Amino acid sequence: MKPFLHVRLILVLLGASCTWATAGEWLDLRGAAPIRGDAAAGAAKAAVCAACHGPNGNSIVPAFPRLAGQRADYLYWRLANFRRGAWPQSPMTAQAANLADADLRDLAAYFSSQAVAKPAVATAPSARGEDLFRRGDTQRGTPPCQGCHGADAKGPADARLATWPSLRGQQADYLAARLKAYRDASSAAASSNEFVMRGVAHRLDDEAIAAIAGWLASLPP
Ligand code: HEC
Ligand code: HEC
Repeated sequence: MKPFLHVRLILVLLGASCTWATAGEWLDLRGAAPIRGDAAAGAAKAAVCAACHGPNGNSIVPAFPRLAGQRADYLYWRLANFRRGAWPQSPMTAQAANLADADLRDLAAYFSSQAVAKPAVATAPSARGEDLFRRGDTQRGTPPCQGCHGADAKGPADARLATWPSLRGQQADYLAARLKAYRDASSAAASSNEFVMRGVAHRLDDEAIAAIAGWLASLPP
């Protein structure tokens, strides 16, 4: 075996033991610079999004996430990851494929600036969901969600964590699907943020997921 082949073999073996280091495809969002977008320009580009995400990003379909009031930096990086095909099976891959970087920033600024509408159908509050959000589950090793998503579930106050999302009032079905996707993921994480959230979700069971998703969806704007 030629020497350079040894080096390549070692790299492959190292990679196989640590997906975090291999991918090279994941976005490192630690210390990402704040994004700047033009909300008015974004409004003009957002018509196509309303079909699924509802008027002004206030989705009325349980499987489609609400975008209104979501944090702009989080929205931008999610769109950037959709555009580069990080989740090929997502309906968003095709939606984002032909957008320019400025479009992503403008759309993020626009949806973030939209008022959150009260949902037409109220979700019943869940005491178990609130308890998990506030205190976590020490027996299972699940940390309290509020530690990272804020006591009001609107995302962490620390501006350096602007890429971390608000969960407040989000559609319950969407939240549950996302939590299961983090928990059951087998491919490499798309970003440092996804890596963090997978670590949190990997011991949640379906009952806990349904309870937290229901409680978050029941919170008023
Ligand atoms: C055909 C329906 C459809 C259209 C049109 C659509 N989306 Fe989506 N979008 C979805 C679905 C379904 C998801 C959840 C997908 C997933 O998690 O893989 C989603 C997820 C998202 C997310 C992630 C939200 C979060 O909380 O993480 C963003 C951001 C987003 N869409 C922005 C947009 C924008 C901007 C447009 C218009 C340019 C758009 N979408 C058009 C269906 C659509
Ligand atoms: C250590 C910090 C941390 C903790 C604790 C944490 N999260 Fe997260 N969460 C994140 C980060 C970072 C993201 C963004 C991940 C990404 O971009 O995919 C995220 C994303 C999410 C999303 C996706 C939101 C969307 O719009 O798609 C959901 C749902 C979520 N978290 C729920 C929870 C729940 C429920 C708990 C408590 C059981 C929790 N998180 C605890 C850091 C955390």
